[in-house]
Amino acid sequence: MVRVVKLAAAPATLNLPHRSRTKELPSPPMSDQLTNDNILAALSSVKDPEIGRDLVSLGMVKDVLIDGSVVDLTVELTTPACPLKATIESDIGDALAALGATTVRVDWASNVKRTFGGPAADLIPGVKNTIAVASGKGGVGKSTVAVNLAVSLARDGARVGLLDADITGPNVPLMMGTQGAHVTGSGGKPNPVVSHGVQMMSIQYFLQADAPVIWRGPLIHSAIAQFLRDVEWGELDYLVIDLPPGTGDAALSLSQLIPLTGAVIVTTPQEVSLLDARKAVAMFNKVNVRTLGVIENMSGFVCPHCSEEHDIFGSGGGEKIARELELEVLGRIPLEPAVRSGGDAGVPITSAQYPGGDTTAAALALREVARTVAGRVSVLAAPVTVGSGAI
Ligand SMILES: Nc1ncnc2c1ncn2[C@@H]1O[C@H](COP(=O)(O)OP(=O)(O)OP(=O)(O)O)[C@@H](O)[C@H]1O
Ligand SMILES: [Mg+2]
Repeated sequence: MVRVVKLAAAPATLNLPHRSRTKELPSPPMSDQLTNDNILAALSSVKDPEIGRDLVSLGMVKDVLIDGSVVDLTVELTTPACPLKATIESDIGDALAALGATTVRVDWASNVKRTFGGPAADLIPGVKNTIAVASGKGGVGKSTVAVNLAVSLARDGARVGLLDADITGPNVPLMMGTQGAHVTGSGGKPNPVVSHGVQMMSIQYFLQADAPVIWRGPLIHSAIAQFLRDVEWGELDYLVIDLPPGTGDAALSLSQLIPLTGAVIVTTPQEVSLLDARKAVAMFNKVNVRTLGVIENMSGFVCPHCSEEHDIFGSGGGEKIARELELEVLGRIPLEPAVRSGGDAGVPITSAQYPGGDTTAAALALREVARTVAGRVSVLAAPVTVGSGAI
């Protein structure tokens, strides 16, 4: 699908996730400067803002077609959930306008790179990145964040898995509308359960609805190992992992079993939650897992009656801990009844199926967080720069 954005008029704010745009630049001079070499040279000055390197040396420019003063090209992003598409597109338009292009059509493609290798990665051969969602304290919104992170990334076009590593308190099936689902599979290998575009595995899919799981560490470890090794995950760009609260068995098992691209720490703004978040970061440091950043959840509640914002759990806690631990705040999610009701109804607030979705502040914040996380993962997967080149 091709969309047309007239730059001479006010900039359009269309926000379709994947396909292309046309830039009609104001003056239409024909130009003999529009050669393949010149275009690549011009695009060598356009940087991927996140990675900080130019599009050409990153191999992101594909299939340049020149027809008079019209240029078609494909840009291969490092994630379909790229948060900076509009900036990249605008910079390409400017660079090619300087060569005399009157119309630039950008077609978007994506190729998510793997952030790890080595023997431990063999357990999950088709998985390119693993993102653990953790917290020190219970009930701060880990599962809510994990579910919406997965749904948002899938909605942007990524291949996403969601592993419910909360073996004794699995919530993913309910939140994803798969409460009664049971695993199927052939040859002894269970298939993930699919909902809202995400492939999932949870202990709940093996149990009767209300059966409790009262397991000690070794059993939890072996359940997580089996979920990683024995499930037909196929090819995944991102495997999001919802951890139980605290610094216990599941997080340790995970870090021993597979390479983790990183952990995101969910906290609420109040001091008691921050205290526990620090412990979670320290635990990941100890097992050599990088923390990608902090997500402050339940930060601020806008009263539907008086429209005034109330900081029910205090404010600024995420920033405080991020500053103290030299981490980034990946986003702030407001407290919003729709987040809870979406979770309870099995239709996450970021799902395309959520009625009136994408209009609430929390849904927008969660989608933004997902794109920010994808961007940070892309940076980790980018080739290392040595001098002016890459290795
Ligand atoms: N931003 C929010 N606005 C409103 N309700 C929220 C928000 N975030 C989470 N909730 C609700 O708070 C409750 C706890 O959230 P959730 O289950 O995601 O936390 P958790 O950290 O995974 O808990 P646990 O430690 O038990 O695994 C849920 O009912 C959820 O719907
Ligand atoms: Mg949970």
